[in-house]
Amino acid sequence: MKNVIVLDHPLIKSKMTQIRRKDTPTKMFKELVKEISTLMCYELTRDLETEEVEIETPISKTVGYKIKGEDIVLVPILRAGLGMVEGIQDLIPNAKIGHIGIYRDHKTLQPVEYLCKLPPNIAKRDAIVIDPMLATGGSAVKAIEILKSHGVKSIRLACLVGCPEGIEMVHSHYPDIPIYLAALDKGLNEKSYIVPGLGDAGDRLFGTQ
Ligand code: PRP
Ligand code: URA
Repeated sequence: MKNVIVLDHPLIKSKMTQIRRKDTPTKMFKELVKEISTLMCYELTRDLETEEVEIETPISKTVGYKIKGEDIVLVPILRAGLGMVEGIQDLIPNAKIGHIGIYRDHKTLQPVEYLCKLPPNIAKRDAIVIDPMLATGGSAVKAIEILKSHGVKSIRLACLVGCPEGIEMVHSHYPDIPIYLAALDKGLNEKSYIVPGLGDAGDRLFGTQ
C-alpha cells in the first residue's frame, strides 16, 4: 500500500498484543500507548531534514547535526490522541503541541469538531497528527483539513491501529499524506469499530464508558 508504513517490529508487535487484551487495566493501557508511541517515533521522524552544526568535543572540533527549521508540532486528536503525546515528546522534547478536539457522533459516525488550538508559525512547521485509532478515517480527514486550512508545512499521520477503510478514506482526500501504523487490522464491524482492534481507545485510556 502506497504511503502506508506499518511498523513491523517485535517490541511493537508484543506491546500491541498486550494492549488489545480486554482485561488490560487502564494504568497498563496508558503505559503501553506511551511506550508504543515512543517506539513509533523513530520511524516517524526518519525523513526530517537536518542541518550541520559545529561543535567541540573534549578532544576536537567537529561537525554534527540538528533538526532543521522550526520545532515540529504534535497534533493529538482529543481525547485519545493525548495518550500518545508524552511518548513522542520523550524523544522530541522541543515539540510544540496543537490540540484538535473531534469526536465521532455515535449515531451518524460523522466527526464533530469542538476545539482547535495551534501554536504560532504553523506554516513553517512539520506536523504529526496522532490518534490511536484510524477507523472510518472521518476524524483524521477532518483534522488534516483543519491543519491544511491553517497552511501547515507538512503533515504525517500516526495511529496505533488502522484498517483498510480508514486508509482509503484518508488517501482518497489526501493521497500524499504518509500514514504510520503500529498495526493494520482486518476492517470495521457493523458499528464501525476496528476488528480485532482494541475497543474504544478514549474510554480505555481515561477509564470512561
Ligand atoms: C475515536 C478515536 C478517533 C476516532 C476514530 O475517538 O480516538 O479519534 O474515534 O474513528 P473514525 O476514524 O471513524 O473517525 P472518539 O470519537 O471515540 O472520541 P474520544 O477520543 O473523545 O473518545
Ligand atoms: N474509535 C475507537 O476508539 N475504536 C474503534 O475501534 C473505532 C473508533
